[in-house]
Amino acid sequence: MAKMASAIQIWTFFLICIFSCTTNSMDFNYPAVFNFGDSNSDTGGLVAGLGDSLLSPNGETYFKKPAGRFCDGRLIIDFLMDAFDLPYLNPYLDAIGAPSFKSGCDFAAAASTILPATASSLSPFSFGVQVAQFIRFKNRVLDLQPKGKKKSDKYIPGADVFQKALYTFDIGQNDLAGAFYSKSFDQIVASIPNILTEFEKGIEILYEEGARNFWIHNTGPLGCLPQNVAKFGTDPSKLDELGCVTNHNQAAKLLNLQLYAFCKKIHGQFTDSNVTYVDIFSIKSNLIANYSRYGFEQPIMACCGYGGPPLNYDSRITCGQTKVLNGTSVTVKACNDSTEYVNWDGIHYTEAANHFVASQILTGKYSDPPFANQMPYLLKLKF
Ligand SMILES: *[C@@H]1O[C@H](CO)[C@@H](O)[C@H](O)[C@H]1NC(C)=O
Ligand SMILES: *[C@@H]1O[C@H](CO)[C@@H](O)[C@H](O)[C@H]1NC(C)=O
Ligand SMILES: *[C@@H]1O[C@H](CO)[C@@H](O)[C@H](O)[C@H]1NC(C)=O
Ligand SMILES: *[C@@H]1O[C@H](CO)[C@@H](O)[C@H](O)[C@H]1NC(C)=O
Repeated sequence: MAKMASAIQIWTFFLICIFSCTTNSMDFNYPAVFNFGDSNSDTGGLVAGLGDSLLSPNGETYFKKPAGRFCDGRLIIDFLMDAFDLPYLNPYLDAIGAPSFKSGCDFAAAASTILPATASSLSPFSFGVQVAQFIRFKNRVLDLQPKGKKKSDKYIPGADVFQKALYTFDIGQNDLAGAFYSKSFDQIVASIPNILTEFEKGIEILYEEGARNFWIHNTGPLGCLPQNVAKFGTDPSKLDELGCVTNHNQAAKLLNLQLYAFCKKIHGQFTDSNVTYVDIFSIKSNLIANYSRYGFEQPIMACCGYGGPPLNYDSRITCGQTKVLNGTSVTVKACNDSTEYVNWDGIHYTEAANHFVASQILTGKYSDPPFANQMPYLLKLKF
């Protein structure tokens, strides 16, 4: 009897939630998503653009083979696409296999920065280039609209999606991470307004092109990535209580403050738009600080790396690579269970961590303006 009552309660709650959650919330009723960013949301852009490929065990957890993502499986953007009930985004630069762009396109490319790329940049696809690619994409789509009776196409979106689509952004981490190799902390802090000005230029162009729904992720605690701890944290006085590089996280916080102010500004300026700022920094910091509560065992150490604890990271060799180090041939393999690790390869998060971050985003609590908990989706994820 008690069991029965609680089952009814759960169902009642569930049904109430289906109605109230969908009416109160942003209804996630987007026909398409256009994404801009770096490796945090790159679904294959950099490897397609450079004619490169990722090595196994990248992709092993979900795709069962490398899938253009620097991860063992899915990225935050993939989980968000699930929540939006849309298929995973194809990269703009993917030419093979007639990829569909009907419900959006991913312009993100790993290693990309907001500031223009330089000769030494790993990715030439900085934010301004991604925005230019979007404009070309849009013009091609408008040009290719079906004529006459044929109303729709399997591969390209309709002309009306550009206004209705969600525009997502996750970029800026590499502007800071890269700068620490050649600049002082003060110089980096002083350069943040330039980074924001460049970001603003791109956002304004997209607005001119018809974008009206902006969803902007802030930058995560990059000082907690093994790559940065290994290079900049050899002196323990440079680390915080979590074992993260203090200066890196401080720079991220300062960038985020200015990004937040920028979001408020455009929210006021673009009165016919939705601008959602998402605090990824807090979600990831919470995960790293309170990892065991969320079912993880390793908050910082890389799953797929070389060198063993505490970081299992060696800048000379990347996940899946085979190389002769100190006279011995070494192949970098994954840990036994990537779901115990927050970090995948020293720079990027595991699928399990991305899943956690996405589920936290979908609570709506980390957004400004906040939105109602997307409970049905969380139930689907069995959290
Ligand atoms: C902003 O979001 C709300 C809720 O999803 C939606 O009804 C509205 O159309 C959006 N505004 C614009 C300008 O797209
Ligand atoms: C860890 O969890 C505690 C208790 O909920 C919370 O107060 C704290 O802010 C969390 N740490 C981070 C870095 O979010
Ligand atoms: C390789 O050699 C370097 C320099 O001799 C040494 O510092 C390092 O500990 C060695 N690494 C391994 C894994 O043996
Ligand atoms: C991984 O699994 C293998 C086989 O079960 C075991 O021998 C090895 O000790 C495990 N490694 C770690 C780091 O747990």
